[in-house]
Amino acid sequence: MSATSCRWPGYFAARGYPNAHRVGSGVEGIVYRLGHGRVAKVWTGRPPTALTRQVYADLAQRPLPLATPEILEVEEHQGVVITYERELPGAPMRGDSAHEDHERQLPVQHKSALLAVLRALASVPGTDAMRRLTVRGDDRPLWQGHHRFQDALAALVTRAVARHGAALAVRVPDFDSGVARTLRALGALPDAPVTAIHGDLVPPNIHTDAAGRPVAVLDFGFYTTAGDPAFEAAVTAAVWDMYGPYATEHAAELTRLFAQELGYAPAALAVYQAVYALTTYDLYGRDNNDGHFRWCAEQLCRNAVFSARVS
Ligand SMILES: Nc1ncnc2c1ncn2[C@@H]1O[C@H](COP(=O)(O)OP(=O)(O)O)[C@@H](O)[C@H]1O
Ligand SMILES: [Mg+2]
Repeated sequence: MSATSCRWPGYFAARGYPNAHRVGSGVEGIVYRLGHGRVAKVWTGRPPTALTRQVYADLAQRPLPLATPEILEVEEHQGVVITYERELPGAPMRGDSAHEDHERQLPVQHKSALLAVLRALASVPGTDAMRRLTVRGDDRPLWQGHHRFQDALAALVTRAVARHGAALAVRVPDFDSGVARTLRALGALPDAPVTAIHGDLVPPNIHTDAAGRPVAVLDFGFYTTAGDPAFEAAVTAAVWDMYGPYATEHAAELTRLFAQELGYAPAALAVYQAVYALTTYDLYGRDNNDGHFRWCAEQLCRNAVFSARVS
C-alpha cells in the first residue's frame, strides 16, 4: 500500500478510528483527522526523527501562547511511516501563495497574527536539540563546529553555493561578488539572542481561531534551528506571499513592519533574506522551470546586500 493510497481510512478504521478523513496533504505526506483529538500523518517524505520529537518537547516546555506539534506514537506499515499526533486547534490562516492569490491589501489581522507568532517564537530559548537539526538540503547539523549563528549560516551558504551555485550564477548577475558581500555582511552582524526558529512560517503552517488569533504553529523542520529571531522575521516577510501578484510589495511591507515593531535592523533582515535564497534555491529544481529556484534568483537580484543597492 503506497503512502498516497485511498485505502488509508480503512487502515485507520481497523486501528480503532472509524471516522478518519483526509484534512491536508503536501510535499511530505497526507494528514488524516482521526477524532479523539488525534491526527495521523502518512509520510511520503522524510519522517520526523527522535531529534524532531526532542525539539517538539523543548517547545512544549515553554508557556507559549501557541500550540505546537506533539508526536504521540510512530508506526510503520509496509514500509510507510505513520505518526499519530495531537490535533492542533484552529485552521490554516490561508492556502499557500502558489495556489491562492493574496489580495493586494495585507489584512491587519494577518499582520497582527504574524507579529504575535514571531514574538512567541522569539521568547523560546534555542536548545541543544534545535542546534543539532540539519537544514533541508544540507549534510550536517547547522551549528556543528560553530558557536555563533552567523558563522554557522556563513558556512551553510558556502556549502549550498558549492552545490549548484553555477546554475544560480547563470540567472544572477555578479553572483560571486554578491555571495562575498553577503558573507561579509553576515560576519559583521552583531551578536543576537539565540531563540527557536521555525523557518517556514507560510500561511498553511499557522493556525488561527475564528477571531483570527494565532493558536498553533506546525510543520517544523524545513529550516528549523536555533538562532537570531531576526532571521525568522526576515524569512517570514519574504515567504509569506511568494507567488502572488503583489508578492514583492508584501515582502517589502512585512520587512518594514517587522523591523519597526520588533526592533530588527533592516540591514540584518536583508542579509538573512539573501542567505535564505542562497541556501534553498536548489531544493526543488535547478533551473528557471522551477518556481522556487526562480523566486530565489529574483530575491537575490533585488536584495540590497547581495546586489549592493540601497533599498
Ligand atoms: N497536528 C495537526 N493538527 C491539526 N491539523 C494538522 C496537524 N498537522 C497537520 N495538520 C493540517 O494539515 C496541513 C498539512 O500538514 P503539514 O504538517 O503542514 O504538512 P506539509 O509538509 O504537507 O505542509 C496543515 O496545514 C494543517 O492544517
Ligand atoms: Mg505545511
